[in-house]
This record gives sequence, structure tokens and C-alpha cells, in this order.
Amino acid sequence: MGRSLQNARVLVLGGSSGIGLATAKAAASAGAKTTIASRSKEKVDAALKEIGGGATGEALDTTNDAAVEAFFARHPEWDHIVVSVAAGRSAGLRDLALQDAYNNMSAKFWTAYRTARLARISSEGSLTLVSGFLSQRPNKDALLQGCINAALESLGRGLALALAPVRVNTVSPGIIDTPIRASMPADQKKKMFESVASTLPARRVGQPEDVADAILMLMTNPFTTGSTLFVDGGGMIS
Ligand SMILES: NC(=O)c1ccc[n+]([C@@H]2O[C@H](COP(=O)([O-])OP(=O)(O)OC[C@H]3O[C@@H](n4cnc5c(N)ncnc54)[C@H](OP(=O)(O)O)[C@@H]3O)[C@@H](O)[C@H]2O)c1
Repeated sequence: MGRSLQNARVLVLGGSSGIGLATAKAAASAGAKTTIASRSKEKVDAALKEIGGGATGEALDTTNDAAVEAFFARHPEWDHIVVSVAAGRSAGLRDLALQDAYNNMSAKFWTAYRTARLARISSEGSLTLVSGFLSQRPNKDALLQGCINAALESLGRGLALALAPVRVNTVSPGIIDTPIRASMPADQKKKMFESVASTLPARRVGQPEDVADAILMLMTNPFTTGSTLFVDGGGMIS
């Protein structure tokens, strides 16, 4: 297998949208046998039409322990797994209900943990987590998101030891233009993106393909494990 994804069995959790969808498309284009999963069957089916290349998919809520256990029990060993599941709405300390905070942690952090615990990954394969640069640059209006991302980056480093020789890495994106902000009014989003872009060395916000490129590199580079790769247009240094 090594550096090639030809015929590799690639699973993208959260592969029906945004970064996960771009990753699934890139993997399928590189010849991988690609599978996606997310909660909505409609979103999975629509994504499969975009991905092509014989990709398969199914509905799976990764916060459901029993469903995730059953999913991994009925699937064979994977070569590469990517976890790109989003948490719910983020907000400041007093604006986010505690139950929503717990749900966010469950969707993003515990999905990665339970996947690592249950999935079988080939010894030359990889697991890639998607965190976010708030891990290093806290934002008071998305306080918990930063904590979840920091926990994921730590988890990625620990898993690189626990699952070796399977390689485990984390991609930490900055602001990326994906459907994650679908509920934001278009003019507000445009202004926010322009404002962020003006502060970034890259002078633009990211596209899902920017992150997918990095994920594919981490999947296929045989000497990279325990790394956190920032794909943030320079957000960490601006
Ligand atoms: N976009 C950014 O600016 C940005 C920045 C930093 C980090 N990130 C991180 O990057 C990751 C991907 O985000 P994105 O921007 O690509 O978001 P997105 O376009 O909203 O995609 C999120 C994916 O997660 C799936 N999902 C959500 N909850 C799920 C659950 N319980 N079980 C299974 N699948 C679930 C969604 O599908 P269903 O609705 O069908 O479940 C969708 O496929 C997230 O962890 C996000 O926090 C994004």
C-alpha cells in the first residue's frame, strides 16, 4: 500500500459535507475504495453522487455507541480512517446550555475516541482526526470548541503511541468555507470571511480542498505520525 491509495479501503466519518466530502472525493480520485458515513441518509446519497468512483456510504450517528460498534463489527479492516464529524452550535460560556456542551463533546471528541477504540486499521494504515486552530488560540465565544480541539490534538498524539504501527495524525484547520456555517446569513458570512482574510498571511479563508490535500498527505506519508498539521492560512501566527 505505502504511498498509494489505489484500492485502499478509506472510511470518512462526516464524509457527506465540507472537509470530509472533499477528502472522500480526493481519496476516490486517487483510486481508493471510499466509504462515507454521517447521520443523514439524504446527505450521504447526495454526496455519493458527487464522489463517484464506486464510493459507498451509509447513515450512522457516531454519538450512538451501539450503532458505531455494530458498524465496525460488520465492516472489515480499513486502511485509512478520517474523522471529520462536526460538533453542534458553539457559543460562549454562559450562552451554551450544558446539555449542548456535552453533546458537542460527544459528537467531536468521543466520536474520535470510540472510533479509535473500535475500528480495525491495517498495520500500514492511518487514522486522521480533524480538530481546529482554536485549540491553540482560544476564542471566548467558542470556548468549548477550543477545548474539544485541544483534547483531540492530545488524543491524536497519544493514539500514535497506543495504535502504533498504525499512524495517527491530526489536521487543525483555520476558517474554512464549508456548509458548517449554513445557518449564517450570506451577507454576514461574506463580511466575516473578508474580515478574517484581511488578518491572515494567506489573505483568504480556506477551501475544503485545502484541508483535504493535507489529510491525503498525512494518510500516505509513511513517516508522519503523532503530528498536528495546521491548515489555517497562517491563523496561528497572525
Ligand atoms: N469549517 C471550518 O471553518 C472549520 C474550522 C476548524 C475546524 N473545523 C472542523 O472540521 C470538521 C469538519 O467540519 P466541516 O466544516 O466540514 O463541517 P460540515 O460541512 O458541517 O460537515 C460536518 C459533517 O459531520 C457530519 N456529522 C455531524 N454530526 C454527526 C454525527 N453525530 N454522526 C455522524 N456524522 C455527523 C455531518 O453530516 P450529517 O449532518 O449527515 O450528520 C457532515 O457530514 C469539524 O470537526 C469542524 O469542527 C471546521
